Amino acid sequence: MIYITRKEHFNAAHKLFNPNWSEEKNATIFGKCANKNWHGHNYDLYVTVKGEINPDTGFVINLKDLGDLIRTDVTEVLDHKNLNIDVEGMNIMPSTENVAIFIWNKLAAKISIMGGTLHGIKLYETENNYVEYFGE
Ligand code: NI
Repeated sequence: MIYITRKEHFNAAHKLFNPNWSEEKNATIFGKCANKNWHGHNYDLYVTVKGEINPDTGFVINLKDLGDLIRTDVTEVLDHKNLNIDVEGMNIMPSTENVAIFIWNKLAAKISIMGGTLHGIKLYETENNYVEYFGE
């Protein structure tokens, strides 16, 4: 078993806001991320696939194909979007955790069809903060 990772990048806007709470409580819990008129992040996305090496190619998965899949199904869906209102299927507060799971759900089945197994999503929201999701 060997692991291979493709890195991609996107920019998106969001705000973190729980409508069941007062503005004051939202500001206390979410800080700057509760800013009413949105704010942006530069997201770095690492998609790790595991599998056995195909003896004909020496690859687990063709990284160009994986890059194309991530761009079509994730980057083009999220890049320069407002994650709270623009993205079909993201009916949840767009925290880094929830965005990582959204990305996993977009990719896992298609990577299986390509012959690999999605191992993990690592999503950096800032230089200092990232989330990892392994499907459970
Ligand atoms: Ni934020």
